[in-house]
Amino acid sequence: MPEGDGIEKLIRPDLVAFGGYAASKSPETLEGKVEVPVEDIIKLDANENPYGCSPRVQKALATCTDLNIYPDAGQAELRKQLQEYTGVGTEHIAAGAGSDQLIGLILQLFITPGDEVINCVPSFAMFPFFTNLAGGTVVDVPRDENFAVDVKAVKAAITKKTKLILLATPNNPTGTITPRQDILEILDTGVPFLVDEAYYEFGGQTVAPLVSQYKNLMVLRTFSKWAGLAGLRIGYGLFPPRIADYLLRIKEPYCVNAAAKLAVQESLKDVDYLMSKVKAIIAERERLFGELEKIEWLKPFPSRTNFILCSVLNGDAGELQQKLQNKGILVRYFDQPLLRSSIRISVGKPEHTDALIKALREIGG
Ligand SMILES: Cc1ncc(COP(=O)(O)O)c(C=O)c1O
Repeated sequence: MPEGDGIEKLIRPDLVAFGGYAASKSPETLEGKVEVPVEDIIKLDANENPYGCSPRVQKALATCTDLNIYPDAGQAELRKQLQEYTGVGTEHIAAGAGSDQLIGLILQLFITPGDEVINCVPSFAMFPFFTNLAGGTVVDVPRDENFAVDVKAVKAAITKKTKLILLATPNNPTGTITPRQDILEILDTGVPFLVDEAYYEFGGQTVAPLVSQYKNLMVLRTFSKWAGLAGLRIGYGLFPPRIADYLLRIKEPYCVNAAAKLAVQESLKDVDYLMSKVKAIIAERERLFGELEKIEWLKPFPSRTNFILCSVLNGDAGELQQKLQNKGILVRYFDQPLLRSSIRISVGKPEHTDALIKALREIGG
């Protein structure tokens, strides 16, 4: 629709200036814009799994015969399988098209315009995205210089309007894990508390078993990272049963598609294989960290995820991202005050690390 047709007068006033989410670039959109063929682009910008999904998933999808049938809206079988994986009862579980969708549903469930949502920044960009979409007000509580959560400041930020506290642990894009004691202290405020554990399998720490003890705890997980299913969009959450029930009621009925459901089933039969790849990624993360540390104009931050945040001490991080992109290596740059001079590098295979380090040395500080 052309601009100036008055559409702004018809849509929600608070969405007229909504900026959307700056998503990672798909390699095919860069054809002819980078120095290498599209198939040689090294994608280290979206924390995807470089080893792909389980071969069992590939095989099952190739022979799947019931794609003409709507999946079970009640997610009964899926939730049972997730109970076996998490050890948390089915009555606590709801799944969605990626954990992104569940973040959106939680915001819709709790937030009406004017409500406040506490966000420990810098953090995952979809938190303010969905808060704004729900008409809520984001209350930023900055982390300290090592990106640790300031629990005292979180508690001090709580007002009568606070409806939700959001925390990713390990955190994206900083890689930081929040100690269990800090999580318990925030939980004790009684405010509904969303703990996003998208990188749990890399970090190894969870508060999932506590969902049966706390009425205000919600834990989110995803199959995008450890299980390599980002393209199929499947995540799940562990909730107090009443909240799980509400989420199942307000979700779009068939939000987890048949292919994603099958992929979860096969992935959960192949956890040892997938975790061996997680181990390889963790080992590669440590090697990448060591290599980045040797470059004197970069400062990598320790990470418990499948990516590393890196301060650019000398020069412009945005320019560095563009120069790497020209060479066919995609990394993430965040145009946010707290992350202005940083790039985030997803951990790839060893050959990707080698290519990245070579390119960084060629570019220089
Ligand atoms: C902290 C965090 N939460 C949630 C997600 C979304 O994952 P999904 O692919 O399941 O929507 C991501 C993805 O990068 C993330 O970093």
